[in-house]
Amino acid sequence: MPKDTLTVVDNRTGRQYEIPIEHDTIAAADLAQIRTSEEGPGLRSFDVSLANTASCKSRITYLDGEKGVLRYRGYPIEELAERSSFLEAAYLIVKGELPSTSHFQMWRHNIKMHTIVHENVKRFIEGFRYDAHPMGILIGTVGALSTFYPDAKEIDSDVSRRVQVRRLIAKLPTIAACTYRHSLGLPYVAPNNELSYTGNFLSMLFKMTELKYRPDPILERALDVLFILHADHEQNCSTTTARVVGSAHADPYSVVAAAAAALSGPRHGGASESAVRMLHEIGSAANVPAFIESVKRGDRRLMGFGHRVYKNYDPRARIIKKIAYEVFEVTGRNPVIDVALELEKIALEDPYFVDRRLYPNVDFYSGTIYEAMGFPLAMFPVLFAIGRTAGWVAQWAEMLDFDERIARPRQMYLGHDLRSYVPLDQRDDSSELETEISGPY
Ligand code: CMC
Repeated sequence: MPKDTLTVVDNRTGRQYEIPIEHDTIAAADLAQIRTSEEGPGLRSFDVSLANTASCKSRITYLDGEKGVLRYRGYPIEELAERSSFLEAAYLIVKGELPSTSHFQMWRHNIKMHTIVHENVKRFIEGFRYDAHPMGILIGTVGALSTFYPDAKEIDSDVSRRVQVRRLIAKLPTIAACTYRHSLGLPYVAPNNELSYTGNFLSMLFKMTELKYRPDPILERALDVLFILHADHEQNCSTTTARVVGSAHADPYSVVAAAAAALSGPRHGGASESAVRMLHEIGSAANVPAFIESVKRGDRRLMGFGHRVYKNYDPRARIIKKIAYEVFEVTGRNPVIDVALELEKIALEDPYFVDRRLYPNVDFYSGTIYEAMGFPLAMFPVLFAIGRTAGWVAQWAEMLDFDERIARPRQMYLGHDLRSYVPLDQRDDSSELETEISGPY
């Protein structure tokens, strides 16, 4: 008779244990009963990078990496990209259901009412050097928002949580646009709430002296869909960071700043920037075979390829590839797309990539669109952060709703056993010396 349990025999003691299985998962805490003596911590699981560990329960995003399936709250990403808008998808992710007309109007109103930032936020951004990386400015500025909204510390208050969630979704594009204008020495553009969420973002970025800025509807829609595609991706590195920092009951601005910091890395949201830099470096389709060989030799990675969870084509990459052609109809073809297509063609046939099940991910084609739309490469992770903020705040609130305990993993200690302090003049001098460091003070 099949049972939803796992039977474990500890060969050190000969004892047998029966551990419940729920949703193909055992509770790591159930391993603690497996021990060789009454004292001691019991058996633990070792999982560097949490590669095979469910770190939370969630109802937000479903991902099947083997089949290439992604759903927000049960809705397939393909349908949302085709028929929804970013603000509607954000509502779905945060609140769990698609909105009715009146609820959506109120949601949109609440977000639009919070697109403005305090003048001191602009002055704070002024303090960054003209060539500061926009992602660094974004991380610092979002973190600084917690000082503008001390009520954000009231994380147990539903009222406070609701307002911070809407503020964050509203203000990310404003801050992102300020980082861009700051790098060019251009005056900041005030939000225009007559425009859509994404249309207003384009206006804050690109409005010059015209009285009314009207975004190109194809580019506006393309960017909106890119925000939908980036809105959540279950327990990725930055979302896990958000949950870990939030589990200490930090305020949501600190949570989102920490998540954005994780996102900035080239293995995560920084990959689209690195991918386009790589495409430029390769230069032409003719240079692709030599580049692929250098990847296979282990000299470097093919950026925008591979994923911890997807062992199939990333469904977001498929949608983005299609959008790229729609955008190029307006902007003209970004020549790096030909390098990208050739890379994909060769990589998908080469045993190195086939055997490791490496496919294009969300970052492989997104950068070609951003570049064609006129975004500098350094802005790419910032664009990712705008979309992902919906996911971070939803996952943060869900974590609080589930009343999760503070994140506090264990370690496998490999260091010294107990030893006694040795006076300075009696220590061995043969170990590696501290040397003087150079570089700007
Ligand atoms: N190019 C070449 N080889 C790769 C790549 C790549 N992009 N990705 C993985 N591999 C190889 C890796 O060398 C290893 O080979 P071996 O088994 O011979 O040592 C094998 O594939 C497994 O790689 P891994 O590093 O164990 O995989 P991971 O799950 O730890 O890393 C990843 C996932 C996304 C960090 C990695 O695939 C990578 O560095 N990709 C490039 C960066 C990138 O595009 N990141 C964006 C991810 S999608 C957006 C997001 O969610 O952030």
